[in-house]
Amino acid sequence: MASPSLNLVITEPELKLLQTLVYQECGMFFDERRMHFLQDRLQRRLKTTGLNSFYSYYQLLTSREGRAELAALVENLTVNETSFFRNKPQIDLFHKKTLEDILNKKQSRRDYSLRIWSAGCSTGQEPYTLAMVVCDALAYYYLRNPLPFEMPSPKPLIPPPWKVEILASDINYSVLRAAQEGIYPDHHMEPVDYAYRLRYFDKIGDKYAIKKAVKDLVHFDFHNLKTEFLPQRNDVIWCRNVMIYFDEAEQKRLISKFYRCLNAEGYLFIGHAESLFGLSDKFRMIHDNNGTAYQRIEVAG
Ligand SMILES: C[S@@+](CC[C@H](N)C(=O)[O-])C[C@H]1O[C@@H](n2cnc3c(N)ncnc32)[C@H](O)[C@@H]1O
Repeated sequence: MASPSLNLVITEPELKLLQTLVYQECGMFFDERRMHFLQDRLQRRLKTTGLNSFYSYYQLLTSREGRAELAALVENLTVNETSFFRNKPQIDLFHKKTLEDILNKKQSRRDYSLRIWSAGCSTGQEPYTLAMVVCDALAYYYLRNPLPFEMPSPKPLIPPPWKVEILASDINYSVLRAAQEGIYPDHHMEPVDYAYRLRYFDKIGDKYAIKKAVKDLVHFDFHNLKTEFLPQRNDVIWCRNVMIYFDEAEQKRLISKFYRCLNAEGYLFIGHAESLFGLSDKFRMIHDNNGTAYQRIEVAG
């Protein structure tokens, strides 16, 4: 068994094998800048398994018995930084423009379903932000437009006959568990203004718990964006700060999968440091007050 204090030296071929395996498994690409991080996490996992070479570790990962260890390694390689209302101008664009457009079009077709997917949701702040914003947008929409049906009493968060589904997925089970719990310490709440805290959270001791009615709108699930089988028929996809860890080939594949996973004229929101430039010409860019989104272009015929 390897000593917990000793770092084994990883050879170039071993590193290459493991780097390729991780890329094939989840799309994360470790270039020169991030190689140190990959090596550090490999050292930690190797020690946990007690194996005495990186080649043996590679063999474990590629074996049937190594599936759990491969999942653990991938979890250790993910960066899970997130926050409520991250990139406020983009959230405002979604709230004021995107949802307004979708609600208008859907209402005229008498289609009262709305499906949003937060792909790479981490600990849940992104999908819960979307849920709160959708609730507000629907309430405001029906202040200005007559409701197609009678509003029940007490007033529900989502006016009938609307059905709102927010799917939130990640490759990391630990963050999915935290997201499902939906309880956040005070220091995570700084971007959430008091009107939102009052309406959508319960205070439990010094923590904030997402109210059950909001939580019920969000469904958490495991999805690896590297695979072909991804959730279909979405009106909006949010995938922010995930593609930055992929190489260009994988980013292109992911964007064409997102195209197929969106309904006609659906919207895609990506991270502030990400762009579709050079990756796809099947989306039009929408830019408003420093917020950016992309809308699926429909081909005639
Ligand atoms: C930096 S966080 C971004 C969270 C949130 N979207 C945001 O912008 O605040 C990136 C998330 O993507 C997830 N991720 C990375 N590779 C993935 C993959 N292949 N499939 C699904 N999720 C992945 C990570 O586990 C992590 O939780």
